[in-house]
Amino acid sequence: MHSAPAKIILFGEHAVVYGQPAIAVPFSALSATADSIAAPDGTGLTIIAHDVGRVLHVYLDDDSPDNALTYAAQLTLRKLHARPPNLTIDLRSTIPVASGFGSGAAVSAALIRELSAALGSPLEGDRLNALVFEVEKMHHGTPSGIDNTVIVKNTPIYFVRDAGPQAFTIGRPFTLVIADSGIAASTRETVAAVRKLYEAKPARYQQLFDQIGVIVRAAKAAIEQGRWADIGQQMNLNHAVLQDLTVSSEVLDRLVQAAREAGALGAKLSGGGRGGNVIALVEPANAKRVAAAVRQAGAAHTWVTTVGG
Ligand code: PMV
Repeated sequence: MHSAPAKIILFGEHAVVYGQPAIAVPFSALSATADSIAAPDGTGLTIIAHDVGRVLHVYLDDDSPDNALTYAAQLTLRKLHARPPNLTIDLRSTIPVASGFGSGAAVSAALIRELSAALGSPLEGDRLNALVFEVEKMHHGTPSGIDNTVIVKNTPIYFVRDAGPQAFTIGRPFTLVIADSGIAASTRETVAAVRKLYEAKPARYQQLFDQIGVIVRAAKAAIEQGRWADIGQQMNLNHAVLQDLTVSSEVLDRLVQAAREAGALGAKLSGGGRGGNVIALVEPANAKRVAAAVRQAGAAHTWVTTVGG
């Protein structure tokens, strides 16, 4: 059995696609798991994706698979120069799809881990990350690589596209309330929408990306030094620029507002936006109150998690 966690982007989504830094952390309360059993001779490789009710047969000569899981399995076989084994892989995930939690990258990582281990050549680290990134391109078009990297490494990262992840320390653990709006939104579409705006007015949008870069660098310093109020303030600033990028929505703004009114130190959308999740930084003693307030404001589900420590 192999697994991979969900992830949360703390700062820098969208601008990260244009070379600005971003900060992401694993979120292990949600995860994808893959388990396998040997299958009779001649049955080949089958993936049962329980959450979406699909049974997928993997053939190497299928050059344009329409499914990302099939593609992930093919990439693994090609990387390891292996034929499809007689194996059935059960794939399950508790991560809501299209909600900014990195569900696509997590199921790919769990599947590739299980399949490569069953073939006797477990893929991990950079080799696994490179394969998951290939699959992400099928999901997202032009992904920055932050999702696959934080999920494969399972550690907080400060990420710059093309430079990769940098280690950083969390000076003092902090508490987040995470709220799923319950609205699925395609990251491929929000990234394409931002691209269109950028192409129409490059100078204006470059300025917004630069602003996010300044926020992310300030947030990194605040996280390293454990200054909660400052982290929260940078979250509020980041959310405002994401509104300017048109990736927030009425529902997300309402959840962010409810969290702030209930005493959160800061709140913002997280991930692709226009749906998906919002995150709020809270004093630990105030977590329940903020979680109740965002549920009252319409959140489908909330979690409280501690980052660092
Ligand atoms: O997969 P999501 O919805 O968490 O969004 C990924 C973050 C983006 O910056 C919007 C896209 C990317 O590839 O970095």
